[in-house]
Amino acid sequence: MPHTNLPNKLDDARIRTALAAVKDPELGQSIVDLGMVRQIQVGEGGAVAVEVALTVAGCPLHERIDQEVRQAVGTVAGVTRVAVQMEVMNDQERRQAFAAAVRLSEARRAAPAAPRPAPAANREIPVRSGPAAPAGPALLQPNTPTRIIGVASGKGGVGKSTVTANLAVALAQRGYKVGLMDIDVYGFSQGRIMGASGQPEVTDDQKIMPWDRYGVKMVSMGMFVPEDQAIVWRGPMLGKMMQQFFTDVVWGDLDWLVVDMPPGTGDVALDVAQKVRHARLLMVTTPQSVAMHVARRAAGVAERIGQSIVGVVENMSYVRCPHGDRLEVFGRGGGKHLADALNVPLLAQVPLEPGVRAGGDSGEPVVAADPTSEAARTFLQLAERLEQLVPSVAPAAAATH
Ligand SMILES: Nc1ncnc2c1ncn2[C@@H]1O[C@H](COP(=O)(O)OP(=O)(O)O)[C@@H](O)[C@H]1O
Ligand SMILES: [Mg+2]
Repeated sequence: MPHTNLPNKLDDARIRTALAAVKDPELGQSIVDLGMVRQIQVGEGGAVAVEVALTVAGCPLHERIDQEVRQAVGTVAGVTRVAVQMEVMNDQERRQAFAAAVRLSEARRAAPAAPRPAPAANREIPVRSGPAAPAGPALLQPNTPTRIIGVASGKGGVGKSTVTANLAVALAQRGYKVGLMDIDVYGFSQGRIMGASGQPEVTDDQKIMPWDRYGVKMVSMGMFVPEDQAIVWRGPMLGKMMQQFFTDVVWGDLDWLVVDMPPGTGDVALDVAQKVRHARLLMVTTPQSVAMHVARRAAGVAERIGQSIVGVVENMSYVRCPHGDRLEVFGRGGGKHLADALNVPLLAQVPLEPGVRAGGDSGEPVVAADPTSEAARTFLQLAERLEQLVPSVAPAAAATH
């Protein structure tokens, strides 16, 4: 592409600078830093053509990006016409974009007032030669030796994330290699609950190193997205992101993977459920019948798409009074009713304890902070029961399939 270094000459560097202000609405980072600007051509008479690669096909926000790109380029002096061509990233580009998003959001968190980072080396997208990755991530194969537990609920606020975190830590305490994946797009709370923060490292080959807390390897979508940013996650984006979590995280060999699923029965929950079809669902409910009702609906959806439900956890079941009685503040029976309706066991009734909430806020799950408390013992028993109920596939057996 012909271009000169004369000052004020309209060239692609100036266009690129203008484009840096346009953000991908979902990742919340500059489309330039994310490697979404594939090509800039400056033609005769100020005609500019920009090729933008979207992170996912059919991105419902492409019109907004298109508009903002036109607007940004249009403000550059000398530009007379703007043509925008939308393409879709290949897997390699997308991997790099997400990796860049991790780095950038971390950098911003570390130094909020700092200017935008200098142009990243990954702006030029190298095309990796060699054969494409086979089959798909091992964790998503039906015969993976990793036992996957999807923790689900009909609605938020019932303690789904609390159960997820404590179950993961309990399994780790029982000597297993455990992973925790936080894909609840309505609130990425595992970082806070597990006390994980700081830089998630990205390896040279663009793999994400999980955080390690209490012997649990964990990733949260909160790693990718600044917490203060309201993000609307769309189906395709979420799907790709999740795929990334299965493919591009350095998990090592896991015995268990516990997943904090999005609550409810909407598109998001369905999307996720379909991806991890061979996960066993653990339904969390409270004793209230209303919560029970929504949990049952969520379970119905899981059943329709062929996911099996391993059991029910009733959370906030009772408060243990000083003289030993159980005070059933939220009523009773929700967990049992749901379990009966689903024809699965009621695996645990977790008491309402101040230590559970405090642990969630301080980043120290009660199983780690106060292992002899009644709630912690309940979580440990839950882990033990799951151990009995969920068969592990021996890797040797899996290989023969
Ligand atoms: N058994 C419990 N005892 C005390 N507080 C709890 C218990 N379970 C959950 N909580 C608190 O209730 C709130 C909601 O729990 P959370 O796990 O975030 O729910 P969800 O993930 O279903 O939205 C949190 O503040 C959490 O600490
Ligand atoms: Mg939650």
